[in-house]
Amino acid sequence: MKNIEFIDVPSIEKAKSRKIKSKYYDYNFNPTLKTLDALKNKKYFIRTYGCQANIRDEEIISGILNRLGMIKTNNEEECHLAILNTCAVRENAEDKVYGQIGDFKNIKSKNKDLIFMICGCMIEQKHIIDLILEKFPYVDIMFGTHNIVDLVTLLNKYFEEKKRYVFVSSREGDVFENLPSSRNETYKAFVNISYGCNNFCTYCIVPYTRGRERSRLSKEIIAECKELVEKGYKEITLLGQNVDSYGKDLNNGDTFAKLLDEVASLNIPRLRFLTSYPSDFKDDVIDVMAKHDNIMKFIHLPVQSGSDEILRLMNRRYNSKEYLDLINRIRSKIPNIEFSTDIIVGFPNETYDQFKETIDLVQKVHYTSAFTFIYSPREGTPAARLNDNVTYEEKVKRFKELVAALEKDFDYFAKKMIGNTYEVLVEEVSKKNKELLRGYTENNKIVHFKGDKNLIGQIVKVKINDSHLYSLFGELVNE
Ligand code: SAH
Ligand code: SF4
Ligand code: F3S
Repeated sequence: MKNIEFIDVPSIEKAKSRKIKSKYYDYNFNPTLKTLDALKNKKYFIRTYGCQANIRDEEIISGILNRLGMIKTNNEEECHLAILNTCAVRENAEDKVYGQIGDFKNIKSKNKDLIFMICGCMIEQKHIIDLILEKFPYVDIMFGTHNIVDLVTLLNKYFEEKKRYVFVSSREGDVFENLPSSRNETYKAFVNISYGCNNFCTYCIVPYTRGRERSRLSKEIIAECKELVEKGYKEITLLGQNVDSYGKDLNNGDTFAKLLDEVASLNIPRLRFLTSYPSDFKDDVIDVMAKHDNIMKFIHLPVQSGSDEILRLMNRRYNSKEYLDLINRIRSKIPNIEFSTDIIVGFPNETYDQFKETIDLVQKVHYTSAFTFIYSPREGTPAARLNDNVTYEEKVKRFKELVAALEKDFDYFAKKMIGNTYEVLVEEVSKKNKELLRGYTENNKIVHFKGDKNLIGQIVKVKINDSHLYSLFGELVNE
């Protein structure tokens, strides 16, 4: 078995005391001749789990590997280097990854030269690294979310010494610019505006896996967006775990509202942002949204629970009244606005009455769509230390009750769209029916319709004829 070298390991304790002062660097591409020789024209495979932050990380990793002369493949059986880019937000996310790591045992036994790497949020946890080292001896390299910029250094070491490596450092204050990037799509793009999170919701692992919140400089964000507009991109989504606190660490007067206004003025056809934090969502953002037609009138505004006591235990800094007041304030200035949300069911010791308060809130807001989760304890987070008197069966029951309540609204909104014409950004040929194209509306509803493949990446008008709960069917409208 190969020796293991620990270049740096994660620590939940260190993660809690991370400093806020950000430092800005230019990415340094530093391959040795050995690395270039070993990887030139070889194929790499990368699979990403989790959120948009991880998808964007995949694009950076691909950019680095492409710059090394490597070629992307979707077939893990024929690659020279494989990377699993993991998510740790819930147990089922991690279970999927363990299954996939298991599948690589066979692939690696047939292809001894394969370099097998794991990165992403799971690798920011010491107990997971220990488990992988012990159970999966064929994993060669593990690196953390802050170490993507060290990928080439790691490969240089690997080709020098051929050991197993673990590299997870707490460089949470660092922001790297001029990163290589190979975007997955040619018409829609994610642009990071900040990294990390300072909120420490008691159930959530993200502040530990992604570090303290740090904002990119607005001139860098705007330059990146400008380039996307020039390349003909149709949609930009500005990304941050909490976009509303953009700029707080910069101390130069920059705010999310100002940034949003500037990006919208670049005239990208569609502009979105993810994710908003209710008590940080300020009225100046509502005004900027109302001012620009190209900012989509659809907001993802996670509420997590409708019970004030549960919100307090979750360390969410608002109550249900403040949340509803915000929704009403936004609706009064932007009447056609629609909302989606995230909700966690079965937080430790949640009573049935507290759960019912979530149902009440949902019935007041009327969401167009929602992501619902059963609470999953995450090692090292405060909530994971709470005893829990609610059985898993009871949580599943409440989960189903919540989904049924939400689906009444989804159905209402979907039916209301029948007979009307909407702008649809065309994404791909439908996987289920090759005759149809698949795209999505301003409010993120999936639409299927007949059309030519060359419409992919374009915004077209589609009249809706039929609706299902989670997708719509329509026909192209020629102008
Ligand atoms: N920064 C974003 C995304 C966080 S992760 C935000 O604050 O909304 C996406 C969603 O996963 C969260 O909104 C929450 O609803 C859910 N989630 C996070 N940790 C969880 C846990 N331990 N169990 C169940 N759901 C969780
Ligand atoms: Fe997690 Fe809360 Fe931060 Fe979202 S805001 S990433 S839920 S800690
Ligand atoms: Fe998952 Fe990490 Fe995103 S835990 S949800 S990939 S920030």
